[in-house]
Amino acid sequence: MRNSTRSDVDPFIVMDVMEAARRAEEAGRHIIHMEVGQPSTAAPSGARQALATAMEGGSLGYTVALGIPELRARIAKLYGEWYNVDLDPSRVVVTSGSSGAFLLAFTALFDAGDRVGIGAPGYPSYRQILKAMSVEPVMLQTKAENRYQPVPSDFAGMGLQGLMVASPANPSGTMLGKDALGALINTAQAEGTAFISDEIYHGIEYEAKAVTALELSDDVYVINSFSKYFSMTGWRVGWMVVPPDHVRRIERLAQNMFICAPHASQIAALGALECKEELDANLQVYTRNRQLMIEWLPKAGFDRIAPPDGAFYVYADVSHITDDSRAFCAEILEKAGVAVTPGLDFDPDRGAGTLRFSYARATADIEEGLRRLTEFMSNR
Ligand SMILES: Cc1ncc(COP(=O)(O)O)c(C=O)c1O
Repeated sequence: MRNSTRSDVDPFIVMDVMEAARRAEEAGRHIIHMEVGQPSTAAPSGARQALATAMEGGSLGYTVALGIPELRARIAKLYGEWYNVDLDPSRVVVTSGSSGAFLLAFTALFDAGDRVGIGAPGYPSYRQILKAMSVEPVMLQTKAENRYQPVPSDFAGMGLQGLMVASPANPSGTMLGKDALGALINTAQAEGTAFISDEIYHGIEYEAKAVTALELSDDVYVINSFSKYFSMTGWRVGWMVVPPDHVRRIERLAQNMFICAPHASQIAALGALECKEELDANLQVYTRNRQLMIEWLPKAGFDRIAPPDGAFYVYADVSHITDDSRAFCAEILEKAGVAVTPGLDFDPDRGAGTLRFSYARATADIEEGLRRLTEFMSNR
């Protein structure tokens, strides 16, 4: 049968790495997973209990398209707790993960042929989803001295229809402070460029609190998720905050594209929002892991790294070691039994010289992974 050209998107290379690691495990090897971008912890107990109770009581049928009103109100309250922002719950849209939010946002904001700026390195699915919608991703080559975040001069005057930023970012873990984020929003707004802020790693931050774009403007799209801080990747539930005059448009799209986010997951998400203590305990583990990473990676020979501000990744420049990060990752998996991700997922132009290490797993795993990486590099 025929195919569309817009569906010709690249694979997510980290998934291929995960598959190679799975095959190695099937063959009896013990692999340390530093490739996956997800917590190894379960959904918080309050989430599981809320769902167990709901399963006894109701049918868990469709919800209204924008999400259960109690959940939208509780998410709005979170903006008061985290950022001191007074948010109208009617602007909150519950989505099928942030991935579902990207589909809604890109459909609501862009037409075929529009151009949307994305910082490279960045989360790969932004550009693949845009491409699948016949929207052109414009890769902005960020600089190490700007901590791999875009700055206004990277896109000013380009007449883009959209700009997508992430703070903390995947893969670099770097954050945009209030001034830097404000400068990007101002430049975008001055050019009629829609501003989308991916805030999925908020809550996982180490030295300073992450800033939401909503502290600076109401005329932005903010996307977040229960996947990372709330430790609920597979539940496929997230949210988006949109300007008041966009709510009805998003509602119409959500009704038709998704009907609703999974009802069971919405109930669990409402429970998760009351589990701060448990989630902060997870954060303590990431904090310890981060410390181990920034201490041991340079000693192992991965010395071109910057301490991440948030998320659970370290992005390493390995261009002095290899010009083929994919082959290098295969070698690390084969010889050290550690799965890591080649930078090509995040930066097609420069990623042959970079790697991403994830430290989302238990500390004992991270210690063992670092020990193996050190041994591997010393024998190389
Ligand atoms: C920056 C970023 N945005 C979005 C996502 C997708 O997350 P979700 O599970 O909410 O769809 C990820 C997943 O790793 C991510 O790293």
